[in-house]
Amino acid sequence: MNETQKQLTHKSVLVHEVLDALALKNDGLYLDATFGLGGHTRAILDANPTCKVVALDWDKITLEPNAKKLKEVYGDRLTIIWGNFAQLYKILKTNKLKNFDGILADFGTSQVQIQTREGLSFNSNTPLDMRMSKGHHFFTAQYILDHYTHKGLASIFFELGEERYANDIAKAIIEMRKENPIKTTKQLADLVKRIYVRRCPTMRFTKHPATRTFQALRIYVNKELENIKSFLPAATQVLKEDGRLVCISFHSLEDRIIKEFFLSEPHLNPLSKKPIVPSAEEINENASSRSAKLRVAQKCQALR
Ligand SMILES: C[S@@+](CC[C@H](N)C(=O)[O-])C[C@H]1O[C@@H](n2cnc3c(N)ncnc32)[C@H](O)[C@@H]1O
Repeated sequence: MNETQKQLTHKSVLVHEVLDALALKNDGLYLDATFGLGGHTRAILDANPTCKVVALDWDKITLEPNAKKLKEVYGDRLTIIWGNFAQLYKILKTNKLKNFDGILADFGTSQVQIQTREGLSFNSNTPLDMRMSKGHHFFTAQYILDHYTHKGLASIFFELGEERYANDIAKAIIEMRKENPIKTTKQLADLVKRIYVRRCPTMRFTKHPATRTFQALRIYVNKELENIKSFLPAATQVLKEDGRLVCISFHSLEDRIIKEFFLSEPHLNPLSKKPIVPSAEEINENASSRSAKLRVAQKCQALR
């Protein structure tokens, strides 16, 4: 495998843990709300040859080739739908689908998206688009950098990226707008790096200082937190009684939303207090898995 091919793969996280959490039933119907490159869907279909999967993703560019490959292998056992999981209820109603034995959502972005979509990686120099699905979003990161106030920018960086220099970064972006507005990922990454170097000249970076800024913009552009908040109640509604809802998140804000929803939804019984995390072995093999957290809840009659 050459370097480019290596980058254009995505290693699914916590695969065994997902299968354990779903506790697959014979003839079960499962929903994979975040198909990606299909790693988890494939694992479900392989683990029990009597199960069927409905898989959803909003990123047509990744969905279409990967769905085609899997359809050739699994045929009618796999149904693929292009859509935003925030509109889950509507999508399933249109497709006359309900009563799932289990639902999986592996939130976030795949490594392929980070490497290939404009604006997502500070390691390449591309326009600041950041939309994961152009069919679902109309404004780009560039629009935000060009139009938002200092307060608006700083709050995105602070609240969604927990960026400690949020104010400085927002101020520098506004300053640059006057003469030479930021247009590319490299310009934004360099700006953030300059601020870090000025503020803490002796710091040794373990990750790129622009990581949090990019993450915050991506979450904001794609409305990632709002989408999860809309998805969770709809997913609970279309689960069968005893069905499992399994969610993997990579960001503390996402994990908090899932944890609070599981605790407050009377029809869900969280099956573990603490999230399930990757083993040291998995992290060693796939560094991108290091921040993954899996939570699982089972649908029950409303007891609370
Ligand atoms: C971490 S990847 C999933 C990887 C997948 N589990 C696998 O094994 O290949 C997350 C996927 O969720 C999709 N996604 C993110 N937000 C979405 C949304 N609101 N609706 C539908 N798909 C979404 C992304 O396009 C991406 O393909």
